[in-house]
This record gives sequence, C-alpha cells and structure tokens, in this order.
Amino acid sequence: MTPSARLQAAKLLGRVIREGAFSNVLLNQLGSDQDARLVRRLVYGTLRHLPEIDHNLAEVSSRVLDEIDDAVLDLLRVGGYELLMGDGAPHAAVNEAVAATRSVAGQGAAGFANAILRKLTRGRAPLPTGVEGEALQLGVAPWILESLTGAWGSEEAREFLQASQQPAPLNARVRPGTDPGGGEAVAGIPDAYRVAEPAPGLEYMDPSSVAVGIAAGVLPGMVVADLAAAPGGKTLHLFDRMQGEGTLVALDYHERRARNARKRLRVAGVDIPWLIADARRPPLALAAFDRVLLDAPCTGLGTLRRRPEIRHRLRPDQPGQAGERQRQMISAALPLLKPDGLVVYSVCTVFSEETTQVVEGFAARPPDGLPGRSEGKGWLLAPHLTRTDGMFISLIGPGR
Ligand SMILES: C[S@@+](CC[C@H](N)C(=O)[O-])C[C@H]1O[C@@H](n2cnc3c(N)ncnc32)[C@H](O)[C@@H]1O
Repeated sequence: MTPSARLQAAKLLGRVIREGAFSNVLLNQLGSDQDARLVRRLVYGTLRHLPEIDHNLAEVSSRVLDEIDDAVLDLLRVGGYELLMGDGAPHAAVNEAVAATRSVAGQGAAGFANAILRKLTRGRAPLPTGVEGEALQLGVAPWILESLTGAWGSEEAREFLQASQQPAPLNARVRPGTDPGGGEAVAGIPDAYRVAEPAPGLEYMDPSSVAVGIAAGVLPGMVVADLAAAPGGKTLHLFDRMQGEGTLVALDYHERRARNARKRLRVAGVDIPWLIADARRPPLALAAFDRVLLDAPCTGLGTLRRRPEIRHRLRPDQPGQAGERQRQMISAALPLLKPDGLVVYSVCTVFSEETTQVVEGFAARPPDGLPGRSEGKGWLLAPHLTRTDGMFISLIGPGR
C-alpha cells in the first residue's frame, strides 16, 4: 500500500462523508490496477465500519474528533480501518498513514497521527453495552438496529446487518440473445447471473432488481407503464420480457435522470416514450394498463453492500416520510389498471414503514416462485436470505 493510494482513499472518503458523493459512483471511476483495488477496499471498508472506527479513535485521541482537521481525520479513519479491521502488517500501515499525513498537513500533524495510530495497534477499545455497542459493531445508528429488531427480532436484524457489511458480488442481467460467458445463473431468478469479469452486452444489475422484472409477469402485447423508471434498468428488462411487443411507457420525476435513461435505452436499441411527471399525478390513461411498475423512491437500506454511506445519511423520520409518499404513488397508480391489471410495487429497502406497512391497506399479495421469504403482503429478498440486495416486492390489484 503506497501513501498515494492511502491519500486517495482518504480524499474520496471525505467527498462521500462531507460532500454527499456516492461511493459506488466515485469508486467505479477508478481503474482495476492493484492500487485502485486497494483504494476501493479501504473506502468501502472504512464506510462500513465508520462508527466503530470513530469510537476507537475517540478513545485514544487527545482531541475530540470534530476538532481534528478534516484531511487528517480522514487519513486516521482509513488507517484505523486497516489497523482494526484489516489484515495487513500494522507497522507498515502506521508508517504509510503517517507519511501521507505529513504530506498533506506537515510534521506536527504526522506526529499526532503517529501517536494515535500506534495506540490503535494495541487492539480495539471495549464497546458500550447493550444496543449502542451492538449498533457500533454493526456499523449503524442504534435507531436502525432497533427498527429492524422491532420488525424481525434481534437475530435476523443482526444477520441482515452483518450480511450488509460484506462486499456485493458482480451481478448482471443477460439480455435475450446475449452470451452469459462464464456467468453462473442465479437460482430462481431467470435472466440473473453472477459474473466473474465485466463483459460487453451485460446489464449490471443485482439479482433482486432482476427479480422485480420477473415478478411483474409481463407478456408480449401487454400495455405497461413504469412510473419511477430512471435510470431504466428495470424498464429495459420489461421491454425484453415483452419481446418488444405491446406498449411500454416510462415516467420519472427528474428530467436529467429521465433524459439520461432514455439515451441509455436508445443505445441499447430501445426507443419508448419517456414522460417527465410526478407518479402521484401520472398523466396517463385510466383503466388502460395490464401492469404498472412502481419501483418507488425509498431510503435504500437494502443496498448497503454497494452504498455503505447510506447508513450514515439516514434520519429516523425518513422511512415514515418515504412510506407516506409510496402510499400516495400506489393510490395514484391503481386507477391506471385494467380490471385484471396489477401494480408491481418494489423498494430496495427493508424498513417496515416502506414495505409491509405501505401495502397493508391495499389488495396486495406476494409474487410467486422467487427465492427469499414472504413478509406481510409482500416478498423479501435480502443479503442474509438470498445473497442479494434487500428488495421488497408486492403485487397490488385494483380492489381493496
Ligand atoms: C428506485 S429509483 C428507480 C430505479 C429504476 N426503476 C431502475 O430500475 O433503473 C426511483 C426513481 O424514482 C424517481 N422519482 C422520485 N420521486 C418521483 C415522483 N414523485 N414521481 C416519479 N418518479 C419519482 C427518481 O428520480 C428515481 O429515478
């Protein structure tokens, strides 16, 4: 590990923590050489374990963390991750972190970093007792652990969060007529593959997202709307399942996202209408659709493996607020259905406020045949159950 790779990791970490950048977007732009792989491992690892790293830094630092210069703190966090959770040589990790600190903040800061990091080589500080300590270890705020425990019990809540600390494998959906190469088919989710290497013609998607397109049960000739469609991964899957026959219209509230998605689909040879509109007031014909996909905006807690920073951004009132918006979207989607039509509701989160509680008041049922387990009136895929991201799917009919 060279100081420059460590410096790059700390800088990217700072952009994610303080500037709201998305780690997967930043890290996907790096190459695939050895330093890039190390930078990725350090940034993701530090974000996954940040609460426990900060707890340990606070225990050994003579200054409160908030008063430490941002660039130095980020280097200490990355160094802390390597010393506390990594498997490298501790002395090399300290020396390189100190050299990196010297290069950005001078000799005094390097001495400060050296003192802290050497103390960390003696091992982890004890955790507070109870939910606070457990949440620190699982890398989340206590309210997140408490919320999941309330819904699932403490054992499953812990299993979900532990599985969410692991890196996600590379997954893809294979379009019709495309060679999956050496990819391994994901059991129970047609079109989904685990792949070893990126390759042309693959649509990179988690199997849980592919499962949504399968659950929709679209057929050639159907009339289908996708109401929260950008960046278009599921729209393209619906098009492929419909074999390009029938009507497919996509809608998204955010113009730039919709425009980019439309371009992306055109590059893939798919030209369908895209509307910029609010799914709570869709400008679409009533009683006209066989399927309406509502892959609703949500808190994203199911995607922690790929976007570990989400855990640090969530506020306790957000799942409830998102749930209210999701209910409004379902209520607006139902009048679009033909009498035997279905709204396919999906969210890549697992908070009950956005899953079971949202569909509870509707004529909803879980889809058949997917891996995972039923949850209320829906179906749950999750890293601890299916080695996928977390996804809740429910099929909602026009009745009550
Ligand atoms: C989970 S993402 C959809 C991902 C997409 N279905 C895919 O698989 O590629 C949710 C989308 O909802 C859009 N959105 C947010 N609020 C909306 C609203 N009120 N009406 C319609 N779309 C909205 C966001 O811009 C975002 O693109």
